[in-house]
Amino acid sequence: MAPGGGTCPCHGQGAWHLSGPRTRRRAALDSPPTDDPIAQFESWMAEAAKTEINDPNAVCLATATPEGRPSARMVLLKGVDPGGFVFYTNLESRKGGELAANRFAALCFHWKTLQRSVRVEGAVQPVSAEEADAYYASRARGSRIGAWASKQSRPLESRFALEKAVAEQTLRFGLGEIPRPAHWSGFRLVPDRIELWRDMPFRLHERRVFHRDGAGWRLEMLYP
Ligand SMILES: Cc1cc2nc3c(=O)[nH]c(=O)nc-3n(C[C@H](O)[C@H](O)[C@H](O)COP(=O)(O)O)c2cc1C
Repeated sequence: MAPGGGTCPCHGQGAWHLSGPRTRRRAALDSPPTDDPIAQFESWMAEAAKTEINDPNAVCLATATPEGRPSARMVLLKGVDPGGFVFYTNLESRKGGELAANRFAALCFHWKTLQRSVRVEGAVQPVSAEEADAYYASRARGSRIGAWASKQSRPLESRFALEKAVAEQTLRFGLGEIPRPAHWSGFRLVPDRIELWRDMPFRLHERRVFHRDGAGWRLEMLYP
């Protein structure tokens, strides 16, 4: 049974997801179909930017070792265009090491307010130094210092050690320019598969999967 003893109005039975008021918006069933999944993604992202309480660009990034052992974590999507999906990170982090050894990766977005999800799969390419420099320069000064101070994914002996590293880097750069560290850059995930998922009543969700097909995309529907 759902909390409070009621039943779930959309599934007709007790359901775990009825924990609060239903604020999610179901997409109109008749919204026009698309043959360009990246344009559709951009449109959904623009909607999510208006409805999510924060970080509509937060996405779960999955990587794997060459042996196929996966790991996943959240990152922020910092760019999307027909070439792919861009995120930034420490190249010496766990994800950086896995991507250096195995370039295949996947992204999974979920926008609760829209009841939509997008899954992206493909191989990553490093962004150019110019692209990384431009994005790095746009970051807050504190974040630029943080990129120098954090040995992302490596053991930290104490919180004090991190604060000390931040203080040292702050002193080192003073009021001057802060160049992008060589160990900090971005990846572009070049998609060969994009799934656009929409919640539908009775869990009969819509799944539209786009497979890369030459210069275009081939659409396939999947059972939910
Ligand atoms: C909402 C959110 C956004 C994040 N964005 C980034 C990001 O853009 N880049 C990044 O390196 N880490 C980001 N992180 C931190 C990562 O989830 C993770 O802790 C870190 O990158 C180390 O992961 P790894 O050890 O698997 O490499 C974010 C975390 C959250 C919760």
